[in-house]
Amino acid sequence: MLVTRRLPDGGLDPLVAAGHEVLTRDGDEPFTHDELVRRVHDADALVCLLTDRIDAEVLHAGAGRLRVVANVAVGYDNVDVATATSLGISVCNTPAVLDETTADLAFLLILAAARLSSEAEHDLRAGRWAGWGINQYLGQDVHGATLGLVGYGRIGQAVARRASGFGMSVLHHTRRDTGDPGYIASLEQLLSGSDIVSLHVPLTEQTRHLIGARELSVMRPHAVLVNTARGPVVDEEALAIALEQGVIFAAGLDVYEHEPRLHPRLLAAPRTVLLPHIGSASLATRTRMARVACEGALAVLAGERPQNLVTV
Ligand code: GLV
Repeated sequence: MLVTRRLPDGGLDPLVAAGHEVLTRDGDEPFTHDELVRRVHDADALVCLLTDRIDAEVLHAGAGRLRVVANVAVGYDNVDVATATSLGISVCNTPAVLDETTADLAFLLILAAARLSSEAEHDLRAGRWAGWGINQYLGQDVHGATLGLVGYGRIGQAVARRASGFGMSVLHHTRRDTGDPGYIASLEQLLSGSDIVSLHVPLTEQTRHLIGARELSVMRPHAVLVNTARGPVVDEEALAIALEQGVIFAAGLDVYEHEPRLHPRLLAAPRTVLLPHIGSASLATRTRMARVACEGALAVLAGERPQNLVTV
């Protein structure tokens, strides 16, 4: 079993208990792509992270022996699932266990971006706060606002549950009608009808740059955009320009187009809250994710269908 990083304590327990030989790293340093290609050759199972690019080269290097790629993440855009499937390699992920933790972070970003908390704290720490002022840091109210969810899977629905406690009206848009109250078939209508928009779609060819200049232009000038899904769902340059020009009010982001690099214009854009991809980062949740991924790998090696099998 090749595990590409040191996992949270206890995360590897299922593999160890099953008596498998586990090759892992001591630290958080990832394998280089070349190392991954070399090492996967001798592995029956690969437990990897969303920052590992499991492309055709890695998969072909493992083919023959490698039976499963278990991604310690719900998103699996880093894995070439089509090639894996064609080589008979199963892919699994870690849905469900991170829903509530990620929804908490989405809500943190909703609140922080709407209330300009990063700018206010930054000024305070820099000694720029001269005292209470009636016109300072005037944000947008979250309570009573209309929240538009783009994507309405488990995490989107967990955000919706939190929103009800804030007395918000909740709309959602997905490609297929959910039949649930608040469904809006047109993305444009959802964007133009929401005060706060939160993104909860996976990254696919259909969702890449789903939110670009045109979509931002139909949003309300006081609107807040939050992204805890995947960076490339938003055209970052278009977002930076929209913030600079006041096309929308604020943005709260946890994910970026080219992680860990940030678009310089986005870094400098006003009214932004920027976090380093920590949506699922609670100790309990990250430990659960590691375990779920390991259990998926074990199921495949035992000839069973893993609970979280990803299909093309
Ligand atoms: C985190 O981004 C995940 O996909 O689990």
